[in-house]
Amino acid sequence: MKSDIELIDSNGKRLDGRGPEDLRPIKIEAGVLHRADGSCYLEWGGNKVLVAVYGPREAIPRHSQNPLRAIVNAKYNMAAFSVEDRKRPGPDRRSREISKVISEALEKVILTEQFPRAAIDVNIEVLDAEAGTRCAGLTAAGVALADAGIPMTDIPVSCAAGKIDGHVVADLGKEEDNFGDADLPVAISPRTDEVILLQMDGHLTLDEFNKAFDLAVNGCHVVSEIQKKAILDKYQSASEAE
Ligand code: CDP
Repeated sequence: MKSDIELIDSNGKRLDGRGPEDLRPIKIEAGVLHRADGSCYLEWGGNKVLVAVYGPREAIPRHSQNPLRAIVNAKYNMAAFSVEDRKRPGPDRRSREISKVISEALEKVILTEQFPRAAIDVNIEVLDAEAGTRCAGLTAAGVALADAGIPMTDIPVSCAAGKIDGHVVADLGKEEDNFGDADLPVAISPRTDEVILLQMDGHLTLDEFNKAFDLAVNGCHVVSEIQKKAILDKYQSASEAE
């Protein structure tokens, strides 16, 4: 959707004062829930996301079991009160799509072959939504899986980039997502830079795509450091309490 709002000024400053490559502020806390096997609470700009991991456990119903590996059930849910106009509760096309792409991304890093016939549930609850919730959800899921001790090749991480008023920028905010030209959510395994999720909404030239992709991957590496610190903080405070 086009608007009359100027999303980026002639000095490259965005509506919230960020430069083109800057991310919104991020806070991550691991192990916030006591009954889940692993959990994470994440704030990213105006997004608030809670993730609980449950499993590995025997997959039910039995016909859903894979004899060779675990199945990963990520379930993305946007709370009715998380958006400006109350969202109708329950699954819709958008949340099914996001659940599917996040499940597939997580399967790329989880060592699923270690748990034949099992299921690993990853419940992603979006409590406040302000653009980029799939990236926020996947990033929090990575921390919650690590907190659950699920073996993985790496902690998956996600960040988007996009285009506003003809400029390629990192991590679109709400107005930028609503009135911008394109959004490119990316998730990677940060040790290898293997891409585990890549979607695009809007239009980009090949040059713009390459620039946006690089910005998103750089953003992923910034977020990855915050993930690692959240996990270290949890285990450091746990060992100090002993
Ligand atoms: O959240 P994400 O950017 O991954 O997905 P999107 O489908 O591009 O949605 C962008 C934003 O639109 C969300 O983060 C919400 O802030 C908003 N939205 C909304 O207000 N109502 C909905 N039913 C769905 C999304």
